[in-house]
Amino acid sequence: MKIAIGSDHAGYALKEELREWLSEANDVLDMGTDSEQSVHYPDFARKVCEAVRAKEAELGILVCGTGLGMAISANKFPGIRAVVCSDPFSARMGREHNDANVLCIGARVVGPGLAADIVSAFLSGKFAGGRHSIRVQKIADIESEFGKRS
Ligand code: RB5
Repeated sequence: MKIAIGSDHAGYALKEELREWLSEANDVLDMGTDSEQSVHYPDFARKVCEAVRAKEAELGILVCGTGLGMAISANKFPGIRAVVCSDPFSARMGREHNDANVLCIGARVVGPGLAADIVSAFLSGKFAGGRHSIRVQKIADIESEFGKRS
């Protein structure tokens, strides 16, 4: 699977661990950051979301201190459905029910072992469609109504 991954400085170490592990079985696009020097998380949310929107990656993963700033930023991009997850069940349901295409993780919230389980659940989840398609379409309708390009 083609996956775009990015982080800010707070998420850098976890992003590097996830990148190395994911690269064993996936085609991983590393969108930075590349050190623990302070940066601004929206810049990296932008890079990953633009890659997902351009279909350069099927799914995106964003890591910051809490996952929250990344998710707020990512959800400003048309067509992006970003979820913050601290447990594998939510990550799987994010794919199955919400057709999430970006996973946000807080490196100050979860450790690397749990983060890997969260990522595995997210990647293996499949959108269930059916009634959930109607709801996801309603999200897209809200996006269109309030002026975001799709
Ligand atoms: C950086 O200190 C921190 O604010 C950022 O990583 C993230 O947690 C924001 O939501």
